[in-house]
Amino acid sequence: MEFGVKSGTSEKQRSGCVIVGIHESGKLTESAQLLDELSEGFLSNILTKGDIKGKVGQSLLLHAVPNLLAERILLVGCGKEKELNDSEFKKILTKAISTLKNTGTQEATSHLTELSIKDRDEHWKIRQTIVSVRESYYRFEALQTKKENKKQLLKKFFCAISPRKNQAAAEIAVHEGNAIANGIALAKELGNLPGNICTPSYLADQANSLANHFKSIKTRILEEEDMNELGMGALLSVSKGSRQPAKLIVMEYNGGKKEAKPVVLVGKGLTFDAGGISLKPGASMDEMKFDMCGSASVFGTIKALAEMDSPINVTGIVPSSENLPDGNANKPGDVVTSMAGTTIEILNTDAEGRLLLCDALTYAEQFNPDVVIDIATLTGACVIALGKHASGLFSNYTPLTKAIQQAAEQSGDKVWELPLWDDYQEQLKTNFADVANIGGRDAGSITAACFLSRFTKKYHWAHLDIAGTAWLTGTDKGATGRPVPLLIQFLMNRCHE
Ligand code: BES
Ligand code: MN
Ligand code: ZN
Repeated sequence: MEFGVKSGTSEKQRSGCVIVGIHESGKLTESAQLLDELSEGFLSNILTKGDIKGKVGQSLLLHAVPNLLAERILLVGCGKEKELNDSEFKKILTKAISTLKNTGTQEATSHLTELSIKDRDEHWKIRQTIVSVRESYYRFEALQTKKENKKQLLKKFFCAISPRKNQAAAEIAVHEGNAIANGIALAKELGNLPGNICTPSYLADQANSLANHFKSIKTRILEEEDMNELGMGALLSVSKGSRQPAKLIVMEYNGGKKEAKPVVLVGKGLTFDAGGISLKPGASMDEMKFDMCGSASVFGTIKALAEMDSPINVTGIVPSSENLPDGNANKPGDVVTSMAGTTIEILNTDAEGRLLLCDALTYAEQFNPDVVIDIATLTGACVIALGKHASGLFSNYTPLTKAIQQAAEQSGDKVWELPLWDDYQEQLKTNFADVANIGGRDAGSITAACFLSRFTKKYHWAHLDIAGTAWLTGTDKGATGRPVPLLIQFLMNRCHE
């Protein structure tokens, strides 16, 4: 789909569909009023019939409106005029798009950019419109052979901008919106691919193709021998139970000054997690193909940054493996030695994410990071605690916590902080090694984060547990692309510092 901006007023649009709003008070938005005047009260006449009240979630499609150059008007409920916030704006857009999808139009122009939204400028509204349109149209089609009945009719989507505004600046917002949407789409696509296709080697190829595509990205793939030399005994203990070779993928995006320290993103890349010898139950086990969504978000974020030419340095590190039961797999009670030299007793082979991450987090030290953020579908306990709405946030540095919380608010990609108090560290004690890989039933997400915290003492670090937010189940089963919106927002904020 092609996106653009148009600076003409609504009554001059020759579009297939003009999208305008109506508030709960029954008041038409400015663009809707212009159309009403041109059509000699066609819209206000309909309003008196009570077909639309202006509530968020309502819409009305009108054809053959007199005197109009456009083929259709899509009137969308915009709620109370004074109280519009981000999430209402997104709901309004989503409703508009779902109605649009049921029309035959190939082209649409949205005037919803004129709505006033708390703390938001036109730039944000354009960007968000594009991200929302692209999200609504996303479908995982890579492995579906019958595509003909799902043909997408809409080809061009324009955002109306006020004529006084700078067209070039608006075009930049369009470009950013597209880049962010591309990043989200890549994260979804990788997440949705099954374990037999999306293996650690597949992810490594993905990194190489990003590097081939963008001059600003350089990739390095560490093989099992390389990891062995580095002493990554925790990571390799997981992959030895799998026939697919593990990979440690490093992607360096250099858009900032040479001497600027990078933000390091570490993404859990379990392309399938059966639990190992501590085998998971069969129900919903297919969803453990999503156990690489942390890494998918790193790929998506880096791609978006490269497309936007963002002035920042970001290094992505993806430790990738499968976790399967096998004669050579980890057994409960096994003790392994991590790259940091810490010995770990593996009491449950299903707590494998932290075994990969601890070595990747130690490896991150050499990049002299500004901050390190790991992103992982780490614990089922996080889903119990926060459901599917917020990712769990942990950090050893309060300013970093604050910056992530702020980016979460700005992007609508929610997080909630959980504590990393020393009290919880006790639960990881064992008689047989420096640390156990599980801390019992209580506070499962926190003890997992406590485990990681032992490997992140040398830098400012945050951990995002995305077990609940990375994918949806049921009829909407599929990767969400989260937390790409949050990470991009966080990094864009950092560019302006
Ligand atoms: N990938 C899972 C976490 C997970 C489970 C995410 C279900 C989303 C839904 C992780 O590797 C895991 O298995 N964690 C265990 C840890 C436990 C053994 C301490 C869990 O959460 O059950
Ligand atoms: Mn597991
Ligand atoms: Zn896992």
